[in-house]
Amino acid sequence: CRAVILISGSGSNLQAFLDAAADDACGYTVEAVISNKADAYGLTRAKNAGVDTEVLSHRDFTDRESFDEAMVEVIDAYRPDLVILAGFMRILTPGFVRHYSGRLLNIHPSLLPKYQGLHTHQRALEAGDREHGATVHFVTEELDGGPPILQAAVPIESGDTAETLAQRVLVQEHRIYPLAASWFAQGRLRMVDDRVELDGELL
Ligand code: GRF
Repeated sequence: CRAVILISGSGSNLQAFLDAAADDACGYTVEAVISNKADAYGLTRAKNAGVDTEVLSHRDFTDRESFDEAMVEVIDAYRPDLVILAGFMRILTPGFVRHYSGRLLNIHPSLLPKYQGLHTHQRALEAGDREHGATVHFVTEELDGGPPILQAAVPIESGDTAETLAQRVLVQEHRIYPLAASWFAQGRLRMVDDRVELDGELL
C-alpha cells in the first residue's frame, strides 16, 4: 500500500508513520511527504528518512480549487493507495475530497463529534471535561465530520494546560494513527457510504 502524507508543521505524526514504516509488517510505504509550508519541520524528518518531499505554497495559487488541483497532480504522480493528512492545516475542497474518497484519512485532536475545528485542548479544559483525546477518521466533505475509525482517550489532570494536555494526546495520536493506516493497508478497513466498515462490520 503506497501512502502519501500531507503536513503543514512539526510532523510528529509523520515521524510515527516513518518509524512504523521501517517495519514492512505495517503494510504501507511512505512514498512522499507534501507540505504547504516550506518551513515545516516535517520536511526535515522526511529527508532524514530518505523520503521524497514536495512543497506547494497556497500563496502561489489564486484560489482554493486551483491549489487543490495542483496538489492532486503532485500527489497522483506517486500513485497513492492512501493519502494521510498529518497536521495538515488547510481546509480541502469538495473536489479534492471526492477524488480521494475512501482513501483519505485525518487525525483530529478531540473525541469527535466533540470539538470539531480548532483549539480543541483549550475548549476541553474550559468545558471542565474529565477526559479528552484524538480521533482518526475518513475525510468527507464535512470538516472534521468524517466517520470515526479509531479513538483514544486520555484523562485531563488538575493543573493541565492546553500544552500539557496536547502532549498527552499526541502520545496517543502517534499510536492510533499508524495502526489505522495498517488496518487500511491490510484491507480490513474501508468506507462504505460514509460509514466505516472494519473486518466486514459497520462501526
Ligand atoms: C496535532 O495536534 C494533530 O492532532 C493535528 O495537528 C497537530 C500537529 O500534528 N492534526 P503534527 O505534530 O504536525 O503531526
